[in-house]
Amino acid sequence: MLKQHNVPRHVAIIMDGNGRWAERQGEARAFGHHSGATRVREVVETAGEMGVKFLTLYAFSEENWRRPDEEVNALFALLISYLKEEVERLHENGVRLKSIGNIDRLPIDCQEWLKHVEIRTADNQGLTLVLALSYGARSDMVRACQSIAMDVQRGLIIPSQIDEALIQSRLSTSILPEPDLLIRTSGEQRLSNFLLWEMAYTEFHFTNVHWPDFSKDDFAAALAVYSERERRFGGLISP
Ligand code: IPE
Ligand code: IPE
Ligand code: MG
Repeated sequence: MLKQHNVPRHVAIIMDGNGRWAERQGEARAFGHHSGATRVREVVETAGEMGVKFLTLYAFSEENWRRPDEEVNALFALLISYLKEEVERLHENGVRLKSIGNIDRLPIDCQEWLKHVEIRTADNQGLTLVLALSYGARSDMVRACQSIAMDVQRGLIIPSQIDEALIQSRLSTSILPEPDLLIRTSGEQRLSNFLLWEMAYTEFHFTNVHWPDFSKDDFAAALAVYSERERRFGGLISP
């Protein structure tokens, strides 16, 4: 595959449309999630090949706990089988796995598998793959505020020392650069509580393709569109 000019360093994806994709074919929603997992494998591979350094996948939002237990359980069972099946391949491909979100809320076996894969891949230097699980941007910001408030209370800092860098450093995404490109599949055009602070200057790409149909070519096409964008960050176009 050809390397694109102007490759985004950090791509974030809201993998949406699994349920509708399955229901459209008269199948259970879990079938859509299952097919979606195959796309995760492909996109991780393609992202690495194309020179993306960070890939953050929104796999389960804090609000997704509102779904029926059956669906939630199916999603976490799928996550465990993904981690089990992929750990060695990820490692061989130099991928480093990380997770963000309220991980303590996940089933214990899920937490253990995540930890296992994170430790196994910790020293890898290739793509950093970040799974957002039980993630909500607002609660991440609340936690950051609480941690800063504690430091103020202990007298470690004074309020005037609170700046953007300090807030950023207390978010669960502190180890990541800001996303350059956000992709959301399935035609929905909203953020659904994903990376609100971090996406202040992110480029958005919405596609009608449902996640289980999102191919390597669709990913490459999103990167091609991005490479033509002009990012100004509030400044002026350079001559
Ligand atoms: C995305 O697909 C996967 C998760 C949110 C876990 P959905 O399950 O949201 O599928 P739709 O949007 O209902 O089609
Ligand atoms: C966002 O999708 C969360 C994930 C893709 C994991 P949802 O399907 O949960 O979002 P809404 O409810 O349509 O906003
Ligand atoms: Mg959805």
